[in-house]
Amino acid sequence: MTVHASRRAVLAQGLVLLALAAAGSAPALAADAHSYAEPERVRITAIALDLDADFRRRTLSGTAELTLDWRDPEATELVLDSRELAIARVEARDGRGRWRRVGHALAPADPVLGSRLAIATGLPQPSAVRIRYSTAPTASGLQWLGPEQTLGREAPFMFSQSQAIHARSWVPLQDTPAVRFTYTAQLRVPRGLLALMSARNPQEVSRDGRYRFEMAQAIPSYLMAIAAGRLAFQALDDRSGVYAEPERLADAVAEFADTPRMIEVTESLYGPYRWDRYDLLILPPSFPYGGMENPLLSFITPTVIAGDRSLVALIAHELAHSWSGNLVTNANWDEFWLNEGFTSYVENRIVEALYGSARADMEFVLDIRSLRRDFRELPVETDLQRLTPRLAGRDPDAIYTTTAYTKGAWFLRFLELRVGRDALDAWLRDWFDRRAFTSVDTATFRADLEANLLAGHPGAVTGDELDAWLREPGIPAFAPEVEAAAFAAIDGEREAFLSGERAADALSWSRWGTQERLYFLNGLPQALTPAQLGTLDNAFDITGTRNSEVAFAWFQVGIRNGYPAIRPALERFLVEVGRRKFVVPLYRSLMARPEDRAFAREAFARARAGYHPITTASVEEVLGAAPAED
Ligand code: BES
Ligand code: ZN
Repeated sequence: MTVHASRRAVLAQGLVLLALAAAGSAPALAADAHSYAEPERVRITAIALDLDADFRRRTLSGTAELTLDWRDPEATELVLDSRELAIARVEARDGRGRWRRVGHALAPADPVLGSRLAIATGLPQPSAVRIRYSTAPTASGLQWLGPEQTLGREAPFMFSQSQAIHARSWVPLQDTPAVRFTYTAQLRVPRGLLALMSARNPQEVSRDGRYRFEMAQAIPSYLMAIAAGRLAFQALDDRSGVYAEPERLADAVAEFADTPRMIEVTESLYGPYRWDRYDLLILPPSFPYGGMENPLLSFITPTVIAGDRSLVALIAHELAHSWSGNLVTNANWDEFWLNEGFTSYVENRIVEALYGSARADMEFVLDIRSLRRDFRELPVETDLQRLTPRLAGRDPDAIYTTTAYTKGAWFLRFLELRVGRDALDAWLRDWFDRRAFTSVDTATFRADLEANLLAGHPGAVTGDELDAWLREPGIPAFAPEVEAAAFAAIDGEREAFLSGERAADALSWSRWGTQERLYFLNGLPQALTPAQLGTLDNAFDITGTRNSEVAFAWFQVGIRNGYPAIRPALERFLVEVGRRKFVVPLYRSLMARPEDRAFAREAFARARAGYHPITTASVEEVLGAAPAED
């Protein structure tokens, strides 16, 4: 009896322990294959930057002071990530606050990871190290633009893009999302420029070009960000606003006026916004992404300023990262879906709350269609159809796919349908809260989901179903169909047009919104006749559209059919816009046609000087060109 009772107690205790582990009392996370850092030995807890931005030499130079939390009492070395940094000297701070010079070794650069920087700290372990360094003009995480590459053509511009592994090209640090730190910065930029960071930001230009920043919440390295240029600010409400070149500010403010409501809606769904302010920085069109969720200050491409707010899901997306990604962070880049899948799901919920389920469903269907298209071309062996691929040895930029985004969001939609929206929302709110300011992996996620959501819904989801979503390539056969009612009519119109039953100018194009137009264009067959393309274009001047998504979809149709009328607009687009999502597939389509290869190379030759290093690298890969020497 007593034996049994105590056995049961032990068992129960074991279960409690298991449940605790499942609830994630800091289980060991898988190592990050994209960082040299050794966070089990020592961690950076704070960074203090003191940097000069030299626009003539295109460098940041100065010091980075790293505060250290030693975990291994025997460790005598601090290993950091770096890329193309010139390290001038390293010092360590002893127990009495005195700085002494210490040795360091910079290993030869690995093409993906950069250079391992080992600092010989010795014993006793210093509480901080200070590194004097300078970035390279070719730093992969920075773009330096001349005045002629801005709208105003008056002043130069500089901005960072640290995700995934480019923070190391402008700060020597532990460049892994498994480590979080706070930071401060002192910056000097040319007088007249406004400097901004992913931190508490100024709203006005300083007189002397000096700025101080503080980021008081612990963030992973990929969320460190910096920008400087001729910028103006306009408030949207008392906690959000827009920074842009003055010439673009009014358009941006009008386009993104719904941002305050987006914040409110997300708070009501998933808990308080924890980062104080939420501002947008509109970058020049060479920005290599649509948006980047730098905390307090999302970086945004101007290509979403369509004039009708039809592409603002991107703002919902970057805002959503303030919960999924910035609060609860993927532990390494194999776990990217935990950032992007959750965020894409939340993005869609924000769009639904603000613009209605018809719009949200259309956007979801468009995403699922491109996922299916991508999967047809993505060899299963690449592992990239899995939510958790093994990316070791590969460049995270080169393997950026829609899998994490759309398959991830689709999986959450599946869970929503199985357990009910209220239950999923309650779990999500709780997940963001319990895991705030930590890094997570899929094992942690699954254990948490099972313990805190699925346990209360027995039979709703099987382990095999979770395996199918989380481990297998492709789309599970039981994935829920997502439908958009408005699209059926468009299928009908498209068929009528293709069969010749309906003339182009009798289509409802002018009444369609952006999502309907995209659905119409993306559903066109591979081959169209010159007459079909010509009549469509004559009827609606699609080539002349100012909507970047519609232009992109139309260029794809035009390229594969050798439609000559798009050429001038396409070339202008390729030269002006550096957003990888557009530019890389366009070059790929051009290169697929021998007769278009010369055009592609010429366009790249003209565009290159204006492209961001990340875009240049991916386009070069498509063109099969050797990387340039400079
Ligand atoms: N965090 C990403 C951008 C990113 C991902 C940069 C991986 C570097 C490596 C950002 O939130 C994003 O997903 N942007 C998308 C937005 C879209 C899905 C709404 C983009 O840039 O197109
Ligand atoms: Zn994202």
